[in-house]
Amino acid sequence: MRRKIVAGNWKMNNDLSGTEALLNDLIALVPNTEATVMVAPTFVNLFQAFNVLKGHNIEVIAQNMHQEPNGAFTGEISAQMLKSVGVNTVILGHSERRAYFGETDELLAKKVAAALSNELQVVFCFGEELEDRKSGRHFSVVEEQLKNALFHLQTSDWEHIILAYEPVWAIGTGETASPEQAQEMHAFIRKTISEKFGDQVGTTVSILYGGSVKPTNAAEIFAKQDVDGGLIGGASLKAEDFVAIINAI
Ligand code: 13P
Repeated sequence: MRRKIVAGNWKMNNDLSGTEALLNDLIALVPNTEATVMVAPTFVNLFQAFNVLKGHNIEVIAQNMHQEPNGAFTGEISAQMLKSVGVNTVILGHSERRAYFGETDELLAKKVAAALSNELQVVFCFGEELEDRKSGRHFSVVEEQLKNALFHLQTSDWEHIILAYEPVWAIGTGETASPEQAQEMHAFIRKTISEKFGDQVGTTVSILYGGSVKPTNAAEIFAKQDVDGGLIGGASLKAEDFVAIINAI
């Protein structure tokens, strides 16, 4: 059985008091659900997020990490540092990391390997740009991203991988992939993974959709067969909206 997951990627939003306030709102509002609910606050608030959420069913995850275990990498955070404050899951490959911080598939392959060797679960993000879709290259771009960053994995590693398809043109733009576009791509991703790692992996890996998911469109996207939940940006910053999206699953 694939896990249903709704994860909020807070990006560079919410200072300490904003983090505490939003988490307390979520504690009050998040329903009992079989879905896994995750939130990704900024690094400096991870420790306090765990304190606030103690005993509650919301998982705190990280937005990024460095591939090396330690050393002279000013401003960076290692897997072990994340583990030491309680983090078990890290987002890697977000399109903003790729676009603004030069993260390549090759670098991401190293980050994924480092995360897994530190027993961190990975939410791996990928997705095509608008020009790719306009020119009909979206499937081949996505396939390349998967191949370059994830095809070095062992079959057993896939227990610790969650995929997040986030078409770049839908992130923060208010433009969402239609449920049909999401389903078509998710089915393609599942087929690509099945062909390389076998049906057992392909049918059990959770594939989230991300890109302008809102309370108004979540249900129809989540209803699609190969969509196992969402990675939510803007709408995860308002407790009512995030909870409405959780309810949609
Ligand atoms: P938005 O929901 O704001 O489009 O962001 C999606 C995203 O980038 C989640 O990682």
